[in-house]
Amino acid sequence: MRDSPVHIVFVGAGAVGCFYASRLHHPTHNVYTSLIARSNYSALAASGVTLQTHTFGDYTFTPHAVFPSVAAAAVSPNPISAPGPCPWDYVIVTTKALPDLTDDAALIAPLIGPRTTIVLIQNGVGVEAPYRARFPHTPIISAVTVVSAEQTSPGTIRQNRWTRIHLGPYSNSASFSGSGGADGDAELETRGRDAAERLGDYWARLGGIRDVEVSDEIGLQIVRWHKLCINAAFNPSAVLAGGRGNAEMVSDDKGELRVHLAGVMREIWDAMPRILGRPFPEGLAGPDKIIKSTERNVGSRPSMLLDWEAGRHLELEVILGNPVRIARGRGVELPRMQAMYALLGSAVGVRERERKAKL
Ligand SMILES: NC(=O)c1ccc[n+]([C@@H]2O[C@H](COP(=O)([O-])OP(=O)(O)OC[C@H]3O[C@@H](n4cnc5c(N)ncnc54)[C@H](OP(=O)(O)O)[C@@H]3O)[C@@H](O)[C@H]2O)c1
Repeated sequence: MRDSPVHIVFVGAGAVGCFYASRLHHPTHNVYTSLIARSNYSALAASGVTLQTHTFGDYTFTPHAVFPSVAAAAVSPNPISAPGPCPWDYVIVTTKALPDLTDDAALIAPLIGPRTTIVLIQNGVGVEAPYRARFPHTPIISAVTVVSAEQTSPGTIRQNRWTRIHLGPYSNSASFSGSGGADGDAELETRGRDAAERLGDYWARLGGIRDVEVSDEIGLQIVRWHKLCINAAFNPSAVLAGGRGNAEMVSDDKGELRVHLAGVMREIWDAMPRILGRPFPEGLAGPDKIIKSTERNVGSRPSMLLDWEAGRHLELEVILGNPVRIARGRGVELPRMQAMYALLGSAVGVRERERKAKL
């Protein structure tokens, strides 16, 4: 048991946030986890989070505190026993990554103190850069999860399968932004790595998550870009193909969609040595294996397609725009990715203009 309590707050109490928060709240071990909610605040404040999980069964998670806003959480992790400004140990961002819509690095600024580590559990690449720019001396943990979770009603989270989470420090925005610049900051990387080890330990030892992995900085970016192969191929294509699920696309009659999906993944795969300075390690599932395993993933519909159908904002910039720009900054063109970015970006723009015209 630690002498001093560890206070953790999640910004974004959706599917991923509530699931991982529920595995991180252990008052008997002095680890206290709170949530900042938005549309589901009333439900969470009244009854906590109802979890229906494939891995851990059904249970209720009662957070240490539920806040209706960042401003409320900035006052104190525990307004009753510890009044006054009290910095959080971990601020874990689990909003959708929508840098073209909101500046979430600015949003969390009131929560960041001298002992805070920022953790980003989001899809896409380049998500860390705005945080590093705004908080040059704060350790950042970049995190990639393979989980399937959804909020089925306000405050009720269903985890359908998987729990995998990779953590790694992120020290230097320049090295992954394509803008060139200084080497990573060794001290920040060490502090980030230590913070990642501690957080991983809470999830694994206290929270029972079996597949927590902590990597070094470049190792984590490799995991990010590998996941991007899947997300960048399937998510935008599902929308552009007219609303098709993953298995449906790889089994398409004409076979052209399957060629396209493999082509997107291969494009990222081949560009890795020039983007991250090293190829994907042997043993990682390659495009052919991913396509093959997707044949069995019947019924799965990518989150971007669900967001498109619901008229929500898409994670277009972190899934397509950032990779295209980061690669271009390294002198590498990703033409298949660029084509999807241009087409889907245009479709989003047209729809938004139509929506505004109807108001
Ligand atoms: N779900 C999965 O299975 C899965 C798997 C792997 C990776 N991911 C990635 O994980 C990230 C989170 O995804 P998710 O599925 O958990 O999304 P989600 O269910 O939509 O949750 C996002 C939450 O953030 C909240 N939020 C957004 N802006 C906020 C603000 N300013 N203040 C307070 N709360 C705010 C939203 O509140 P509102 O309800 O008010 O909008 C929502 O509750 C994404 O990058 C996603 O791609 C998801």
